[in-house]
Amino acid sequence: MRLAPDGNSRLTSSSRQDSYYVSEELGFILPEPLEELPPYYQPWMDVALRIPELVHSHKLRSHINKMPLLSSEFLQKHRELRLAHLALSMMTMGYVWQEGENNTVEMLPCNLSVPFWEVSQRLGFPPVLTHADGVLANWKKKDPKGPFDMENLELLVSLPGGESVRGFFLVTLLVELAAVPALRSIPTVINGVRCGDTEIVARALEDISQSIQDMTDALKLMQVYVDPAVFYGKMRIYLSGWKDNPCMPNGLMYEGVQTEPMEYSGGSAAQSSLLHCFDELLGVSHEGNGGSFLTRMRDYMPPAHKQLIQDISLQPSLRSFVQQQTCDRLNQAFHHCVTKLMAMRSYHINVVSRFITVPAARARQLRNQSQSSEVEMVSRAPTALEEKGTGGSDIMTFLKSVRDETKDILLPETS
Ligand code: HEM
Repeated sequence: MRLAPDGNSRLTSSSRQDSYYVSEELGFILPEPLEELPPYYQPWMDVALRIPELVHSHKLRSHINKMPLLSSEFLQKHRELRLAHLALSMMTMGYVWQEGENNTVEMLPCNLSVPFWEVSQRLGFPPVLTHADGVLANWKKKDPKGPFDMENLELLVSLPGGESVRGFFLVTLLVELAAVPALRSIPTVINGVRCGDTEIVARALEDISQSIQDMTDALKLMQVYVDPAVFYGKMRIYLSGWKDNPCMPNGLMYEGVQTEPMEYSGGSAAQSSLLHCFDELLGVSHEGNGGSFLTRMRDYMPPAHKQLIQDISLQPSLRSFVQQQTCDRLNQAFHHCVTKLMAMRSYHINVVSRFITVPAARARQLRNQSQSSEVEMVSRAPTALEEKGTGGSDIMTFLKSVRDETKDILLPETS
C-alpha cells in the first residue's frame, strides 16, 4: 500500500516496508502468524490450546487461576505480540463465558489481566478478542506450500463450537483474502483522481467491483461451513463483550490494572477495515447510532489499519471527480462499485438473518420444551443478546441503515 502514512493527500511510490501493515499478497491478514511463543510463555499456550475442552469440563477458570503471572517483556516481535494477544484474548472470552450468561465473573485475575493489558497497550489493541485476533492472526496452512483455501487452512486457537468455529473464522479470513485486489486498487483510484486520469480510475473501480463480488461469493461459504444452531446456541456467546451487555452491566474488572471495571465490545467483523476503506473511498457516510458504532469499531483495529482508513478519508472526493467528468465508463464503474457494495451488505443481512434472527425466533418458541439436541442447543443460547450483535448493536435496524446509506451515494443520473 503506497498511500502516504502522514495523513497528507500525497501518494508515495517507494517500495519501502509498508507502514500500514498491509501486505501485497494478503491485505490486512497477518502474513505467516507465529504458531509458538518463546518457551517462557508455555503456560499460556498450554491453556490456550485447550480452551474448548477445558470449557466443556468447566475447568478453564481453575486452570487460568493457576497460571503463573508472567512478564510480557520477553515478547519482542510484532508477530509474537499478535500470538500472545490472540491466546490471552481467547482465554479471556472462555474465562468470562465458561458458565454461560448467568454465571459471569466480575473480575479477570491478574495473571491474565496484567499481561493482557500490557500486550494490548504495546499493540494499540483493546484488551478483548477482536477481528484482528480471531481472524487476521489466527490461521496456518496445513501444507505450507499448498493453497490458501478451506481444506488447507487451520485455526491456531479455537473456542467451543467445533467445526463451526473453524468455519466461521476461516470463511471470514477468505472474505479478507478476496478483498486483496480491491485494496491494491485503492491507491490507483486515488492517484488517478489526482492526475485527472478517468481511464485509470474507471479500470481500478472495475477491479474493486470484481473484488467485492468475490468477497460476497466467499461470504456464501458461511452456510457450507457453519451450522446456525451451533453458531447461535453455542459459540456466539464467546464472541460477546462487556459493553452494552445486560449480562455484565458494569463491565469487567481487570485485576491489577485499574480499580474500576472497564467496558469493551465483543469481536465482530464490523472491526474489519475493509468496508471502512471502501466507504471512505466511495464517500459513504454513516450517521446516528450506527455511524458512531462503526467509528468506535475503528478503535478495535490495528492502529496502522485505522490510520489507512483515516488517510483515505482525507483524499480528494472520488464522487465529485466522477460527477465532474463526463465519462460514461467512469460513471458506470462508480455506479457498479456502489451497487456491488450494497449487494454485499444485503447478502450479509441475509447471513445475519439465517445465523441470528431465525435461530433467535426458534429459541424463543422452543424454550422450555426442548426435545432434540439441536433444539436444546438453540434454546440454551443466551437471551440477553437475542436482538443485539456481539458488538452490542441493535442488529437489523443498524445493518439496514448502513446498507441504505450506501445507496445514498449513487449519482442522481444513475440511481
Ligand atoms: C455468521 C456470520 C456472520 C454473522 C452472524 C454476522 C453478524 C453481524 C452482526 C450482528 C453485525 C452487527 C454489528 C455487531 O454488533 O457486531 C455485523 C456487522 C458487520 N459485519 Fe457481520 N456477520 C457475519 C459475518 C461477516 C463477515 C464474514 C464479514 C466480512 C468481513 C462481515 C462484515 C460485517 C461488517 C462490515 C459489519 C458492519 C456493518 C457494515 O459495514 O455493513 N460479517 N455482522
